[in-house]
Amino acid sequence: MKRVFLTGASSGIGLATATLLAERGDEVWGTSRDIARLPPLPHLHPVRLDLGDLHSLGQSFAAALNDAGHFDVVINNAGSGHFGPGEFLTVDAVRQQFQTVVFAHIELCRLAFAAMRVHGSGRIINVTSLASRLPVPFMGAYNAAKAAMASFTMSLQLELEGSDIRIIDVQPGDICTEFNDVIAKTEMDDRYAARVEKTWRAVDRNMKAAPKPDLVARRIAKLIDAANPPPRVTVGDTLQSIIAPIIFRLLPQRVRIWGLKKYYGL
Ligand SMILES: NC(=O)c1ccc[n+]([C@@H]2O[C@H](COP(=O)([O-])OP(=O)(O)OC[C@H]3O[C@@H](n4cnc5c(N)ncnc54)[C@H](OP(=O)(O)O)[C@@H]3O)[C@@H](O)[C@H]2O)c1
Repeated sequence: MKRVFLTGASSGIGLATATLLAERGDEVWGTSRDIARLPPLPHLHPVRLDLGDLHSLGQSFAAALNDAGHFDVVINNAGSGHFGPGEFLTVDAVRQQFQTVVFAHIELCRLAFAAMRVHGSGRIINVTSLASRLPVPFMGAYNAAKAAMASFTMSLQLELEGSDIRIIDVQPGDICTEFNDVIAKTEMDDRYAARVEKTWRAVDRNMKAAPKPDLVARRIAKLIDAANPPPRVTVGDTLQSIIAPIIFRLLPQRVRIWGLKKYYGL
């Protein structure tokens, strides 16, 4: 039985992970901004947490830690995105995107490390995105934020030699969740309208046809159980999560951009 702290347990990947782990008997402290959104499951302990407020995030984590005693696993999953042309992104919008999926995630890593140092071991799982390597058009702030978090995670992997704390980067491709329903659409003008609309249709179609979040939940459960987990995994359909990253690595930048534009119909 593991003690797990999991952000964003009310929906999508987090909900599937909370359900799978709780059903197999792990104790899960799962978060939402509104705990009424969390399902009443045995072994699932509701925690209110808002990524927008680092102070309250610290308080939420401390209260859960006090309740749990220690955490074997901390999963940085909660997040949301922005959609719109990078040309019009304000610094405030970018800051808000980084607050949600970089600053809050880094703060939770820091808190998790402190708790795991006391306990002597632990595993941190950061859910970033394949978009950190294969950017989605009109999601500049999100792509950049996920790339920052992937790079931060890899930096820690360089530094953690000799410790019994592991940090793992989980990079999903498209997964069918509520992510697009709550995406923040940013400002644009007529020069972009048609292409933004075309890309949105492709992005939404891909997500609706994508694997269900249980796929990611099962991979996360495996990472929790593995004696020697890989530092980074991709999860999704075969094209996005296996073929595209391998081919992408070998291509010159000009061809990568051409390929991504073709993929999104631009
Ligand atoms: N779906 C995909 O295709 C995909 C692909 C790659 C990576 N990801 C990443 O996977 C993670 C989970 O996304 P999902 O697809 O499962 O999306 P989702 O269904 O929209 O779930 C997002 C979760 O994050 C929580 N959340 C969102 N904003 C928050 C905030 N400001 N403060 C606290 N909690 C917040 C939500 O909780 P409440 O609203 O209840 O507070 C919800 O539980 C995200 O980090 C996302 O970037 C998703």
